[in-house]
Amino acid sequence: MAQKRSDALVVFGATGDLAHKMIFPSLYQMVRRGHLDEPIIGVALGDWNVEQLAERARDGIANQFGTVDEAVFAKLKGLLRYVSGDYKDAATFVKLRDTLGKARRPLYYLAIPPSLFGTVIDALKAAGIAETARLMVEKPFGHDLASAKELNGVLRAVFDEEAVFRIDHFLGKEAVQNLIYFRFANAFLEPVWNRTHVESVQITMAEDFGITGRGKFYDEVGCIRDVIQNHLVQVLLLLAMEPPVSSESDDLSDEKVQILKAIRPLTRKNLIRGQFEGYLDEPGVAAGSTVETFAAVRLFVDTWRWKEVPFYIRAGKSLPVRATEVVVRFRRPPVALFDTVPTTDANYVRFRVGPQVTIGIGARRKAPGGDMMGENVELDAVDDTTDDMMPYERLIGDAMNGRRQLFTRQDAAELAWRVFDPILDLTDKPAPYAPGTWGPLDAMKGFAPPGGWVDPQP
Ligand code: BG6
Repeated sequence: MAQKRSDALVVFGATGDLAHKMIFPSLYQMVRRGHLDEPIIGVALGDWNVEQLAERARDGIANQFGTVDEAVFAKLKGLLRYVSGDYKDAATFVKLRDTLGKARRPLYYLAIPPSLFGTVIDALKAAGIAETARLMVEKPFGHDLASAKELNGVLRAVFDEEAVFRIDHFLGKEAVQNLIYFRFANAFLEPVWNRTHVESVQITMAEDFGITGRGKFYDEVGCIRDVIQNHLVQVLLLLAMEPPVSSESDDLSDEKVQILKAIRPLTRKNLIRGQFEGYLDEPGVAAGSTVETFAAVRLFVDTWRWKEVPFYIRAGKSLPVRATEVVVRFRRPPVALFDTVPTTDANYVRFRVGPQVTIGIGARRKAPGGDMMGENVELDAVDDTTDDMMPYERLIGDAMNGRRQLFTRQDAAELAWRVFDPILDLTDKPAPYAPGTWGPLDAMKGFAPPGGWVDPQP
């Protein structure tokens, strides 16, 4: 169904970190491509003016791209307005209403802590500027099942589900879109994409940096809540879901929800937690904190397609490389006709989700020479585009156009917590690991997909 485009973008938290690092660079790209021509209204507490906001935006853009195209920036600046005020003060929303002028279908982007969502949403309603608007919200979407439900209650008290856009920026990544595209745009995978042929699935998200000044935030969250429960579960869903009947948003969400319902809630024995040495000395981290900076989980999807196929997810800070990869490993040939070399690692599909985008198919072929000896090869499709859209660019553009495919529906947002609820807030000490290594290797002994982990290369 054709959706009306939003006629203004309002960014709450316009002077904050996310706006600086991600939102303004994305808006700049949208303007550069001719994808954004509507007023952009920044809202924040700071007693700034629009010039100061524009300078802050310029700084974020320069950091992201190295240079600023002045013609593009001038256009962006021309769209920019600023409303300063306390979110608790009704006068702020009167100012906002005036600044919106004739705009009737604004998109409100809440780049602010979730604890403020209720205050802002109620005030939008009280000012009479919520009814035909859309609302986009940032993670974290709650910190467990109960709080996610409560948060949904707050949003849905004023906005219909069709008007709510819950962001998981992983879904805006080119490579993550390619996962679902590759799966359902090709028929050859379907006959083997099941428990008969797939031995295991593993997803690794490695980051070669620590918590980079985000100690206070991170210490309240930890690795599972920060990236596994949301980003990496979304990746799992795209790998595991049944073919949807169409690419409409609700049809996609229906299939994701089926998988979420089928994932067994985690138990302690299907989890390893680690903490990098030195974490406790980071500013903002509580003394003796038992928050994990590394986690590995083993999940089972109890459907006809996936019963007993282990889905491993591993993620951590201060690992050797920065890379996110998926490896879907197929079962070995039942009989070794030629060499006796184990062919464990030979048959697989590898999706490199970032930094570069690659789809690789692993196979075994005969090595040149007189003997019937083999070697592993990988057929790679490498995306070498240098002008990929930033995830936030794609997501803001889609929300402006009312396209919901890349956003998380209420039931999916809640069900994802159901899987992790039993193991959140453990207080036992996570296993230590040295920065720059692949996590707590002793604790990880025996905790690996059949054939072992595949460590992504730099
Ligand atoms: C964020 C997490 O959601 O995702 C960060 O809070 C993490 O801790 C980041 O580093 C990773 O995103 P990307 O796009 O850089 O892979």
